[in-house]
Amino acid sequence: MTDLARMEDAARDIARGAGDILLKGFRSASTVVSYKSRTNLVTDADRASEDFIYRELSDAFPDHSIVAEEGSGKDAGDGFVWYVDPLDGTNNYAHGIDQFCVSLGVTRGHAGPVVMGVIFDPCRGEMFTATEGGGAFLNGNAVAVSETGELGYSILATGFPYDKDVNEDNNLREFGRIMPRVQGIRRMGSAALDMASVACGRFEGYWERGIKSWDIAAGVLLVREAGGAVTGYRGEEPDLNGGRIAATNGRVHSELLKLLASD
Ligand code: IPD
Ligand code: CA
Ligand code: CA
Repeated sequence: MTDLARMEDAARDIARGAGDILLKGFRSASTVVSYKSRTNLVTDADRASEDFIYRELSDAFPDHSIVAEEGSGKDAGDGFVWYVDPLDGTNNYAHGIDQFCVSLGVTRGHAGPVVMGVIFDPCRGEMFTATEGGGAFLNGNAVAVSETGELGYSILATGFPYDKDVNEDNNLREFGRIMPRVQGIRRMGSAALDMASVACGRFEGYWERGIKSWDIAAGVLLVREAGGAVTGYRGEEPDLNGGRIAATNGRVHSELLKLLASD
């Protein structure tokens, strides 16, 4: 078994285990919500999921590094690096809305490309997987981006940063420019699922600023392996820590970038 196949196998099992932990606390009165800020929440389920993922990854791959949203993590040198979002869509989760997931992406080295990605939606039992050069899959079946060629016939997804109340660069300008030009824009509340939805053709595209490596690492590979395009707002190679990302079916990419770059 290759390194990538072994990582994908483990990631699927670990994401399923983490998904079970999330489902146990979902819509449960015992779930404890605390506030990083008024709009940025964290629950005990985020932490339980991350603890589980950290333990399992450390056991299976002791020489890999881990970057995880809720602060567990370790630097094991310049080998593979796991980017872990133990619960993407926390605000949905805390409100009992069934749109959240576990996202696990792996890069080769700290600055290297994403080589493996798994996004698991436990509410729908949807497991999205991709390995570098190996295609993108939903529950084992190959998926591809949509064939829509015009923004006017597209549904896009986006999100807004947690500091939107104090930061003028909060995506409302871009939202206002793009909304009249498309069929619709969805704000689903999980960046990883937004990207998985681009990969399997449900959305034509997704953009967001202020986004973090653990939100998008797996999604970047899924969209690319499904035949789509992923860049920064000016068409550059996306920087996982760069905070600005556009992911589309490729066919509407340049139209979207024109609207994103007009500030
Ligand atoms: C958030 C979600 C949301 C996006 C935010 C992310 P979290 O992640 O992906 O859709 O708009 O930028 O921070 O906090 O639920 O893991
Ligand atoms: Ca997230
Ligand atoms: Ca999270």
